[in-house]
Amino acid sequence: MALLRHFLLSSTIVIISFAACSSYFQEFPLITTYVDDDDDDDGTLSSKNLIKQNTCGLSSSLQIFNVSDYGAKGDGKTDDTQAFEKAWEAVCSSGGGEAVFVAPQDNIYLLKPIRFSGPCKSKISFQISGVLIASNNPSDYSKDPGHWLVFAKVQQLVVNGGGTLDGKGTIWWENSCKRNKNKPCKDAPTALTFANCEDLIVENLKIRNAQQIHISFQDSVNVTASGLIVASPEDSPNTDGIHVTNTQNIKISSSIAAAGDDCISIVDGSRNVEATNITCGPGHGISIGSLGAGKSKDIVSGVMVNGAKISGTTNGVRIKTWPGGSGIASNITFQNIEMDNVTNPIIIDQNYCDKKKMSCKQMDSAVQISNVSYLAVRIFHARR
Ligand SMILES: *[C@@H]1O[C@H](CO)[C@@H](O)[C@H](O)[C@H]1NC(C)=O
Ligand SMILES: *[C@@H]1O[C@H](CO)[C@@H](O)[C@H](O)[C@H]1NC(C)=O
Ligand SMILES: *[C@@H]1O[C@H](CO)[C@@H](O)[C@H](O)[C@H]1NC(C)=O
Ligand SMILES: *[C@@H]1O[C@H](CO)[C@@H](O)[C@H](O)[C@H]1NC(C)=O
Ligand SMILES: *[C@@H]1O[C@H](CO)[C@@H](O)[C@H](O)[C@H]1NC(C)=O
Ligand SMILES: *[C@@H]1O[C@H](CO)[C@@H](O)[C@H](O)[C@H]1NC(C)=O
Repeated sequence: MALLRHFLLSSTIVIISFAACSSYFQEFPLITTYVDDDDDDDGTLSSKNLIKQNTCGLSSSLQIFNVSDYGAKGDGKTDDTQAFEKAWEAVCSSGGGEAVFVAPQDNIYLLKPIRFSGPCKSKISFQISGVLIASNNPSDYSKDPGHWLVFAKVQQLVVNGGGTLDGKGTIWWENSCKRNKNKPCKDAPTALTFANCEDLIVENLKIRNAQQIHISFQDSVNVTASGLIVASPEDSPNTDGIHVTNTQNIKISSSIAAAGDDCISIVDGSRNVEATNITCGPGHGISIGSLGAGKSKDIVSGVMVNGAKISGTTNGVRIKTWPGGSGIASNITFQNIEMDNVTNPIIIDQNYCDKKKMSCKQMDSAVQISNVSYLAVRIFHARR
């Protein structure tokens, strides 16, 4: 009797949930149709159905927006930009609860620059499990030469998925004035930018061969970044790993950067920045700055780098300010750092100058540097 009642109760739930799901699917036809192909009708049915019911009940508040359902081919050749834009429009305007944007694995999506703009109605989880590759046709970047993929003004965004972003940077590197003296000095796009985001989590992504900077956090508040793997050749110009600008309360952890410029660079307006368990090299090390370029007033405060392995880099932990700037860099701690095969392990350069960017005259002032601590910094072999 008890068993029967259990069965009846389960069946009722199943029916109700199926009805709820059906209407849900009408509203969101993008999701693969619910198929109940269980045809055994003994007692085990109810429990199987219950499991399905649970999944279904979940998905009614967790809507999934799969780029495949918006026409993305994922063959690495077709331009999937529009499909991503459409899927973003849908996920961002979906109301209530949580929504998931999925770029599934085993697919390669060729993308021109895209701006994923908020504010959005739901909390969005943006899952990149496949590979996103950048168009390497510079004319595709004519509207906004500074960016490939941008998330702007999105609150409570999570970007993860274990996938890869590939900036296909070679063409930009070859055209850089640092590689080819006959070329003009121009900035190339940043591969992945988060601008004006609040409560942002970015985790478990690989980003390689950026056109210039790999990941930039700018004008954002409350950011957690972890499990990021940056990989570009040592001779790729200005390919910073993780760039932090005008961002407050950011924690970067368990990340690896091998690139052609700074592994992490922290610049003007950044406050309360924490970096832990960072593996860096090759590259130019972990930098605060450059600050004060073009006589600007720059402020950075509260930087804690705690736990880093730096090897095969030109610099280890560096603070760099241009001649002529003002402002202050203060409350900075570098601790538990191990360095091996590093040319300048600890360096404060108040006369920094990237001649390719600006002419460098001797000046009387610079950004003030105050309260910097180095604790438990171990240096094994210097690099010559
Ligand atoms: C997305 O859609 C594709 C194609 O229909 C499918 O193979 C994949 O499993 C879907 N992924 C998710 C997470 O829904
Ligand atoms: C950032 O996080 C702090 C502490 O959790 C919170 O008080 C603050 O409101 C958050 N700020 C924004 C802009 O989300
Ligand atoms: C440190 O980061 C590496 C990835 O670089 C990760 O595998 C490891 O688990 C992290 N360790 C801790 C204690 O978080
Ligand atoms: C030091 O780092 C450079 C740059 O990554 C690398 O080419 C070189 O092999 C390293 N030397 C040692 C002894 O590890
Ligand atoms: C540096 O830290 C001290 C103590 O926490 C604080 O009083 C001071 O305002 C900080 N300086 C800046 C520029 O944030
Ligand atoms: C120096 O900075 C540390 C944090 O890095 C802070 O705890 C300390 O209070 C600061 N000291 C002064 C005098 O501002």
